[in-house]
Amino acid sequence: MKIGVLASGRGSNLQALIKAWQEGRFSAEFVAVGSDHADAMALKRAEDAHIPQRAFPLKDYSSRKEQEQAILEWLQESGVDLLVLAGFMRVLSPHFLKELNCPVLNIHPSLLPSFPGLHAQRQALEYGVKVSGCTVHFVDEGLDSGPIILQEAVPVEPGDTEETLAERILKVEHKLYPEALRLITAGQIKYDKKK
Ligand code: GRF
Repeated sequence: MKIGVLASGRGSNLQALIKAWQEGRFSAEFVAVGSDHADAMALKRAEDAHIPQRAFPLKDYSSRKEQEQAILEWLQESGVDLLVLAGFMRVLSPHFLKELNCPVLNIHPSLLPSFPGLHAQRQALEYGVKVSGCTVHFVDEGLDSGPIILQEAVPVEPGDTEETLAERILKVEHKLYPEALRLITAGQIKYDKKK
């Protein structure tokens, strides 16, 4: 399986995936790491792991549509047959998903369908839930709405801030995403559109 990754920032999930792969926990090839930010730490992490990486800053394009098209063509040229979103802060268009025509995964820091979209940890704290967590899911045309692959709950502690909750959830993300990749690359996950 040829894996492409899109990430906008820090790339700690990308790092967890690279580490699991280097440890032989799943067999695949990382062929492309792309970002919409030239200074994304994720690109540096890819470079350090000798994975082809490229930035697609919006300023280089006349529109978001053109930027997305450039990303799409690069992933296609790289032969990607599984796309992993790791903190990629853009919603991919229906055109992109149709043209790429391969499974796309995302990780989200809440127990979906609760708290989709931005600031999931803040939403959880504002709501007052006692348990939150993270979700690995297939990406469809909606916002954080595709079929769920794995979820794990994380307690919300009294006195939590957005930062402390995010940190507790992130530790679990770093375990859950590699596990999802292991299951997918081993052919143990079947995607039937809804589930
Ligand atoms: C993670 O919390 C992930 O769930 C969300 O964006 C964040 C990315 O963090 N989609 P990182 O860039 O992987 O460190």
